[in-house]
Amino acid sequence: MTETIILPGAGARVEADLDPTLDLEAAIDQLRERRNAVILAHYYQDGEIQDIADFVGDSLDLSRKAAATDADVIVFCGVRFMGEVAKILSPDKTVLIPDAEAGCSLEDSCQAADFKRWRDGHPDHVALTYINCSAEVKALSDIIVTSSNAEAIVRQIPETRPILFAPDRHLGAFVKRRTGRDNMVLWPGTCIIHEQFSERELVKLKVRHPAARVAAHPECPEPILAQADYVGSTRMLLDYVTRTEGDEFIIATEPHIIHQMQRAAPGKTFISAPGADGRCDCANCPHMARNTLEKLYLALLNDAPAVVLPEELRRRALTPLRRMLEMSGPAASTRAA
Ligand code: 13P
Repeated sequence: MTETIILPGAGARVEADLDPTLDLEAAIDQLRERRNAVILAHYYQDGEIQDIADFVGDSLDLSRKAAATDADVIVFCGVRFMGEVAKILSPDKTVLIPDAEAGCSLEDSCQAADFKRWRDGHPDHVALTYINCSAEVKALSDIIVTSSNAEAIVRQIPETRPILFAPDRHLGAFVKRRTGRDNMVLWPGTCIIHEQFSERELVKLKVRHPAARVAAHPECPEPILAQADYVGSTRMLLDYVTRTEGDEFIIATEPHIIHQMQRAAPGKTFISAPGADGRCDCANCPHMARNTLEKLYLALLNDAPAVVLPEELRRRALTPLRRMLEMSGPAASTRAA
């Protein structure tokens, strides 16, 4: 269990009390200005949240934004570990998240006590940990990585140094294949949404759309990645479909990113990769879906839920996050919404 304290906000107004005629976008705009707040949103958020955000990005770009902002308040529309990252990097800011229950299956798969035992059993290994984990697991790690920098960071580790990679075994295996590193030990975690895609149904879809290119997130299992023309983080997938010629793209990641793809390349067609039943709605992340415009408004109004971390934990988690930022190279431009 995370040591993060989420302040619930005493006497907080709740969704059920909201006036149904309230113009939420206008009310959020007013509060954003009054509070000097910045709204950050991941590509997996509902389109209406992406549209009202100041910045939409992948995990790395959003971390950079959270570290660099001069706003007083950061409202992080994503999942809880992303709010924690913002607080670790910007401790003097108030960090609000619309729904304190928005978790992550990868984070859940890697509890700090189990991770510590694993680390202790491999004392000569460097621990590279995917950002989709709790602050406690970050604090026990050497370097944090995201899907956009994992390969580049592994390449910076001397080849003779063995690596522990947690918690996503598919991302770890992808990086292993790309770098040819045999000395990487993988934690057995997976993302529930990327596990939903069906290789069989994807092959059938490709037969029906022979000109379509397949763009996949590295959290997908290897048989899905083997069908892909391109593999990358959410921002990399967005860049790929924007710059690549072709009218049709099959997208193997959480489908809300298609909102940005349609905005960036309105003439192109984007099809979600299918699940085992051949349908394309299997990969909606239930955690990301907890956030709504109503909850975003209430977070700004109530100043809650707010992320608060014990200072000693925050400091320990900051070291591997800082290493990640130092080893990630120059920032790609973060997309304004
Ligand atoms: P990126 O945003 O780095 O592509 O990662 C996606 C993800 O796992 C969000 O939880």
